[in-house]
Amino acid sequence: MIELTDIAYVRSGAADLAAAVDFATNIVGLELSDGGEPGVAHLRSDSRHHTLALVEGGSGVIASGFTVADENALEDAETQLERSGFAVDRGDREQCRSRRVGDYVALDDPFGNRIELVAGQQSLGRPVRLSRGSGITEFGHVCLDAPDVREAHRFWSTTFNARVSDWIGDAAALMRIDPVHHKVAVFRGDGPGLCHMNFQVAELDDIFRNWHFLLDHGVEIEMGPGRHPQSGAVFLYFLGPEGFTYEYSFGVRRIEDESAWRPRTFDPAELGSIDMWLGEPVRTTTQPQLRSKASVK
Ligand SMILES: [Fe+2]
Repeated sequence: MIELTDIAYVRSGAADLAAAVDFATNIVGLELSDGGEPGVAHLRSDSRHHTLALVEGGSGVIASGFTVADENALEDAETQLERSGFAVDRGDREQCRSRRVGDYVALDDPFGNRIELVAGQQSLGRPVRLSRGSGITEFGHVCLDAPDVREAHRFWSTTFNARVSDWIGDAAALMRIDPVHHKVAVFRGDGPGLCHMNFQVAELDDIFRNWHFLLDHGVEIEMGPGRHPQSGAVFLYFLGPEGFTYEYSFGVRRIEDESAWRPRTFDPAELGSIDMWLGEPVRTTTQPQLRSKASVK
């Protein structure tokens, strides 16, 4: 069992990098973390150097990063994965530098989602300077697609320390790796991909202020504002360039008493199972997984 200590980042390919960065900063509100690496833009949401990297090239998600405790834990993880039959690639110096990590290993989950396990993710000492007052406080969770969420749960809960917090029937498994209700969600989809990247905001008012801001700027709202009955979070999903769905949310449930929590099952066909305010449930846009290793930096 490999212990994931946190989510680290999303790395996504953009055919039009300038447009994707413009949206991530001026619309989403992330801070452009630095320059210095041609074709890669690092976007910051919290104390870490970045939690989203946009890489010029093919359009599609490259990888989702998760942290392990340290270099020793990473080595153990690599050994365990290889013993379990996963093909594992270690990042070279340049790749590690681009991710601002000490070291990482990459694998494909059973559905083709590229997962990177990292040690030594860089933090920055200076405060985050959001590009606009979106209220973002941190990278909240990552959502991946898989054709079979039960199988996906089996993978995440046997390979890693992920525990299911709630099921939305066979449509979604919401899993935690720490007290936050979910940091990894798997939604049923045709193939591997990123269904959305979530950022937490500081207060409920941020959700509604952002909603008006997005509407005023002609951004496609995919779903919300609404409230998930599972996590209790108020949410807003919206579509960025290249099929990348962002989510803001506020008020996610924490599960402090592990032994007392029992996962619940919600029927996706029932009204209110996605949005307890009874907004229309919409399947948000998934950014497909990039397959070609040659196109992945
Ligand atoms: Fe979400």
